[in-house]
Amino acid sequence: MVSSMKNLIFIALVSWFIAGCASNNTSVYSQLGGQPKVEQIVDNFITEIEFDPIMFEYFKDSDIGRFREKMIEHLCFLTGGPCEYTGDTMVQVHTGMNVTESDFNHGVDLFIAAMNKADVPHPLQNKVLAVMAPTRKEIIYL
Ligand code: HEM
Repeated sequence: MVSSMKNLIFIALVSWFIAGCASNNTSVYSQLGGQPKVEQIVDNFITEIEFDPIMFEYFKDSDIGRFREKMIEHLCFLTGGPCEYTGDTMVQVHTGMNVTESDFNHGVDLFIAAMNKADVPHPLQNKVLAVMAPTRKEIIYL
């Protein structure tokens, strides 16, 4: 009786271990390396914007300090990190800017450049872009 109970516990523990190894629950945020990498990407993105006439036009009257803080929170939140996003909604922020599809795509290119300069491997870049993709419709032509 005792030994069959021990067998059951043993089987349960082995199954639990195998299930744990097989599943990959690691967030994109942790795969990136957490907060320092998120901040590095956003800082690189701000540098890209500063040197880009098309994007800078949109940001010329913005409080870049606030943008940095909210963008870091937003990226942390979207990638599954332990952050609360305290900024305005994407629709609220981008309404009135009338961001065109081609300017949006251009912004994505700059974001990719920011990830390249932060040494984010390409497969991981795709995961970051995948979590950001649904925001597209909340940003363009508003
Ligand atoms: C080309 C595309 C985009 C343009 C031109 C653009 C432009 C802007 C500008 C000018 C601001 C500052 C608004 C202000 O000063 O009040 C802003 C804020 C922000 N944007 Fe975008 N944006 C673009 C795409 C995105 C994307 C793809 C994301 C994230 C998925 C994003 C996330 C944010 C966040 C989190 C803020 C700060 C919100 C806040 O201050 O409460 N933006 N954007």
